Amino acid sequence: MNIRPRINRATVARRNLLHDSSLSSSLVQPYFIVEGQGVNDSIENMPGIQRQSIDVLMNTIHDDFAIGIRNVMLFPVMSAGMKDPHATACLDDTMHLYQAVRAIKEAYGDQIVVMTDLCLCTSTDHGHCGFVEHNEIQNDSSVEQLARIALLHAKAGTDYIACSDMMDGRVKHIRQALERAHQHTTGIMSYAVKYASAFYGPFRGAADSSPETGDRRTYQMDPRAGYKEALLEASLDEAEGADIIMVKPGLPYLDVLRRVADSINRPTAVYNVSGEYSMVMNSTSDEAARGAMVQEILASFQRAGADIIVSYHAREALQNGWVV
Ligand code: PBG
Repeated sequence: MNIRPRINRATVARRNLLHDSSLSSSLVQPYFIVEGQGVNDSIENMPGIQRQSIDVLMNTIHDDFAIGIRNVMLFPVMSAGMKDPHATACLDDTMHLYQAVRAIKEAYGDQIVVMTDLCLCTSTDHGHCGFVEHNEIQNDSSVEQLARIALLHAKAGTDYIACSDMMDGRVKHIRQALERAHQHTTGIMSYAVKYASAFYGPFRGAADSSPETGDRRTYQMDPRAGYKEALLEASLDEAEGADIIMVKPGLPYLDVLRRVADSINRPTAVYNVSGEYSMVMNSTSDEAARGAMVQEILASFQRAGADIIVSYHAREALQNGWVV
């Protein structure tokens, strides 16, 4: 397996994300992208976060850049007509996600780290993160499709492919596909330790990605699982060539984050997920009180060993000077 430590050093923005010790430079702001023009839809239970078409997204990123956002995570939201059993729409290089990556790279070059979520659930009609046959998730054919789609992410110019599907062996297949295509500077941020959590609810509403039937418990980890399984998943993805290892969700798994950060030789990311965000947002309308909560939460991630913090709070934290 080709391990390429230089990927994490390839740009100033990547080095700042990983090695500037300030909290603000660790933050990654997520965005939901839809087709169309002038779309700026609010999302239930996620005040301050919208689903936006590319024109609106570019204005948002412009404003976010001005307040110090340097790391972005992009999620494609697909209309029902674009979905099918195999997420075929993701193989079209004119898809809105790839257009958005190109537009951001054209405007900001390497001043922004772009991460793109790679999964099938937003693009399949059944809503699962892998192909479904006879009511079972098909691991290996899903992984092949993910590797094909990963190449389009790379060619659009993403810095990190953020694979969130939890199929076995996908980091290896994605890395091999990148190698074959000579995409030697594209990184992989693996959602390596991802639990079948009840805290993804608002996201699934935003991304229209709930499974039509069943749940994700045969691929995402059991929330009751112990450290061994977390370390197994993290070390497998590290060995397969992931450049960043993520633990998700954040708050209920701070202990896992600490263990993973201590045991792997790769930067660690944490995802402060949608349900955690809505808990805080719905708890009080007093901004100062909320600011103190956000500071406390972000500090806990840093203390537990996160080099990278993906959080819907990133924008308000920078805007209000809750982090430095
Ligand atoms: C897609 C994906 C999910 C999240 C990130 N990528 C949802 C899921 O696994 O069902 C959740 C993010 C959040 O809740 O903020 N697989």
